[in-house]
Amino acid sequence: MEVIIRESVEKAVELVARLTSDAVCRKPDLVLGLATGRTMERLYARLAEMHREENIDYSGVNTFNLDEYIGLSPQDENSYRYYMQKHFFDHINIKCENTHLPDGSVEDIDEECRKYEETIKKCGGVDLQLLGIGRTGHIGFNEPLSAMLSRTRPKALAPKTIEQNKHLFDDPERMPRRAITMGVGTILDSRRCFLLATGKEKSAIIAKAVEGPITSMISASALQLHPHCTVIVDEAAAADLTQNEYYKWIFDNEPEWQDYH
Ligand code: F6R
Repeated sequence: MEVIIRESVEKAVELVARLTSDAVCRKPDLVLGLATGRTMERLYARLAEMHREENIDYSGVNTFNLDEYIGLSPQDENSYRYYMQKHFFDHINIKCENTHLPDGSVEDIDEECRKYEETIKKCGGVDLQLLGIGRTGHIGFNEPLSAMLSRTRPKALAPKTIEQNKHLFDDPERMPRRAITMGVGTILDSRRCFLLATGKEKSAIIAKAVEGPITSMISASALQLHPHCTVIVDEAAAADLTQNEYYKWIFDNEPEWQDYH
């Protein structure tokens, strides 16, 4: 795992957007894993801009989202399908049939999860996974005690997550208590991943996930086992880390990062 600290939210978002656009240019049939949430909104806006300004071509890209609420139809304004169309898919030239999210409105949820894993496999696995981190330390909706080897499955949302997200619903009581999520094991299978976290409210959980012990109580700590994971944070989200000088040295000096200053 490596940590990159940028001076501002804008610079952190810019770096992830640049790295993602570059990955699409390098591999036009990229399999891209996607997250939702407030942090990602800025990223999708910037990726859409890069698509317009630099003709980043998504026509051959397949995407797989991490999660979807159980009980919401894809047309529901609070569903993650709706979110993805609104913030990203409607602004780029991706083929609708290449955008994959679990369907939380089907009757047989277990079958939906099994099919989702199968489709990821059929597409060749996730090349690049984008992640955010929740207050519980979740990635996707892998709440505390999610098994390190878990696959796509239904998961009960933790009270902190309900607290974090319910105000996004017109009627907070309508927020589902369960979701389908890729498992920690599914995420660890991705070839490359970026976790983007910004703002002071993420600093404590980022410190635990990055510098704390690997524990199923904080699913993001499992990323320490990932072969190629980069955590990209702004100064505020980095505030509780202890090795910041070292992380900054890496960005300033390692050859891999010199084109991204
Ligand atoms: C949702 C997801 C979650 C979010 C996390 C952070 O698809 O993957 O893990 O990334 O809850 O959400 P924000 O960015 O709203 O703080």
